[in-house]
Amino acid sequence: VTEPDLAGRHVVVSAGGTREPLDPVRFLGNRSSGKQGYALARTAAARGARVTLVSANAGLPDPAGVDVVRVGTAVQLREAVLKAAADADAVVMAAAVADFRPAAYAAGKIKKKDGKDPDPIILLRNPDILAEISADRARPGQVIVGFAAETDDVLANGRAKLARKGCDLLVVNEVGERKTFGAEENEAVVLGSDGTETPVPHGPKEALADTVWDLVVGRLD
Ligand code: PMT
Repeated sequence: VTEPDLAGRHVVVSAGGTREPLDPVRFLGNRSSGKQGYALARTAAARGARVTLVSANAGLPDPAGVDVVRVGTAVQLREAVLKAAADADAVVMAAAVADFRPAAYAAGKIKKKDGKDPDPIILLRNPDILAEISADRARPGQVIVGFAAETDDVLANGRAKLARKGCDLLVVNEVGERKTFGAEENEAVVLGSDGTETPVPHGPKEALADTVWDLVVGRLD
């Protein structure tokens, strides 16, 4: 039996991976399936929360009883998260957000030019949504959770990222071409800004999600 310990709370979860378009047929993207974020949304709803799920290119069915807002790019994800976070008790950023986007969008498909090298792709920096919502909380006491997808020096990079982003909790998970992305299971260490470290053993993404909500509940007033 799930405790309704999030009843009366509004939580925002981002999921999936942003796509940054180059032309009508191509984009820069990443390997996120959305499964970890959707597991967070489902478990929060099961614990009684009102849930807004900001979903980037996930291709998964809408979880029952969850408000789903679909977005494509990092800029769109930022707009949707800021809007939903205005009255939220907690925000969990599980989405894989592109740090950069192409400076130019070609209205027509980019063509090969015979015998010529391709043009380089110029990139612009995307807004850092997690750092922004952490620095400028929409309401006092709002709990903000980030994820860190790392391929090496996982914990050291995670600790540095927690300090840089300014969130309350950071879920550090290892990723690779076939690791974590798209999988049914995950394992992680949840770092707290108070110095706590909560290891979560390999298991279903729902189990990690429930541990995240346990830690969030402990921080809500
Ligand atoms: O979707 P799945 O296939 O289930 O895979 C799950 C996952 C690996 C995508 C997920 O567990 C995960 O790690 N999500 C975060 C991916 C990511 O973007 O990590 P990062 O280390 O690059 O970013 C750190 C944090 O800052 C994240 O919370 C991210 O949402 C946020 N961010 C990043 C860049 C940016 N411009 N704005 C942000 O808010």
